[in-house]
Amino acid sequence: MSLKGKRITLGVTGGIGAYKAVEVLRLLVKEGACVTVVMTRGAEQFVTPLTFSTLSGGRVYREVFDPHDPLSHITLAQEADLILIAPATANTIGKIASGIADNLLTTLVMAASCPVLMAPAMNTRMYENSIVQRNIKALQSLGYHFIGPEEGELACGYTGRGRMSEPEEIKEMVVDILTSKDLEGLRVLVTAGPTREFIDPVRFISNPSTGKMGFAIARVAKRRGASVILVTGPTSLKPIRGVETIHVEGAFDMREKVLERVGEVDAVIMAAAVGDFYTERMERKIKREGQLTLCLKPTPDILKELGNLRERPILVGFAAETEDLLKGARRKLVEKGLDLVVANDLRDPDSGFGKDTNRVIIVEREGEEELPLLSKEEVAWRILDRVRTLWKRD
Ligand code: CTP
Repeated sequence: MSLKGKRITLGVTGGIGAYKAVEVLRLLVKEGACVTVVMTRGAEQFVTPLTFSTLSGGRVYREVFDPHDPLSHITLAQEADLILIAPATANTIGKIASGIADNLLTTLVMAASCPVLMAPAMNTRMYENSIVQRNIKALQSLGYHFIGPEEGELACGYTGRGRMSEPEEIKEMVVDILTSKDLEGLRVLVTAGPTREFIDPVRFISNPSTGKMGFAIARVAKRRGASVILVTGPTSLKPIRGVETIHVEGAFDMREKVLERVGEVDAVIMAAAVGDFYTERMERKIKREGQLTLCLKPTPDILKELGNLRERPILVGFAAETEDLLKGARRKLVEKGLDLVVANDLRDPDSGFGKDTNRVIIVEREGEEELPLLSKEEVAWRILDRVRTLWKRD
């Protein structure tokens, strides 16, 4: 619920993307935001106000001069923590850029002092028109935020740039804008996902890690203003906007990329489930002829290597154990020379590989903190809170 207590005004203008605004509203409400919807007349051609009022649980505003609430444009503007316009048509963008306030939405943008985010959606030719481009640039230079539009098939039959960004991406950007940047200046490298150690061209040894924990850390760190490098093994997760992502396959590859970049960062968080063993890779596909014996050798311990660096950054390791959780975590803390170990019990059905939640113990030299069952994003917040304290102490 990263938008809990936040007041958002969602402005919907008259473009086909208006149907996607319904999903944007649903996601914002799900994230805990209190959303007031303002529609232009054009928007009503696409979606009915009833759809929005049902989902927001409040009335939908449409008129500047509302007999029941004559100052609605001022109160709505003052109360909002953020105004989101999705979709934002060329017409609305143009009016705001020119200082025209001829409907409730454009009037309240003019009266607002909160951040304004626009998600343009229009035909490619319109988007590429130099007037529209000039308007967007002018608004950006005044501090207005934009997301998209994306490339793709447009409702008008064209293919090109003009499609409104996906609701999930828009929601993420709203959260980004409203999150205080308390990690500004921190440079962090996060690893995520599994590694693959190939046996032959078509087979590999791996583990069930999906990368969710590492990606959550990278996403939250970025949101809080850190500059983030994400080194990830193979996952099916979507890239994170604004995070430099480096894709790797095996443990050796991950080691190389991490060591290459470690000099640039203040902290390394090794959330990856790095495979502990590899075998010499056969050039040809192994035939299925009787028994096969593999000789497994240990992969390099990346964290340990980082712990031995003369100028080492803040180091965070993970310990997934099936027994003696605390003992194992403490041993890793000391043996690998870490500042913090995030320990989770692989026997816990709500935690670990592939889950969206995690129950962890944060182990430090001075003591430990047992956290309740939390979403992986909340766990990421807590880990980063600790990293922030260590960073500020340095
Ligand atoms: N790790 C690493 N390099 C490896 C293996 C693991 O950097 N080759 C990191 C992981 O990213 C994780 C931490 O070390 O942050 C703990 O991983 P784990 O495999 O549990 O630790 P091991 O040292 O292998 O301990 P053990 O097998 O004794 O449990």
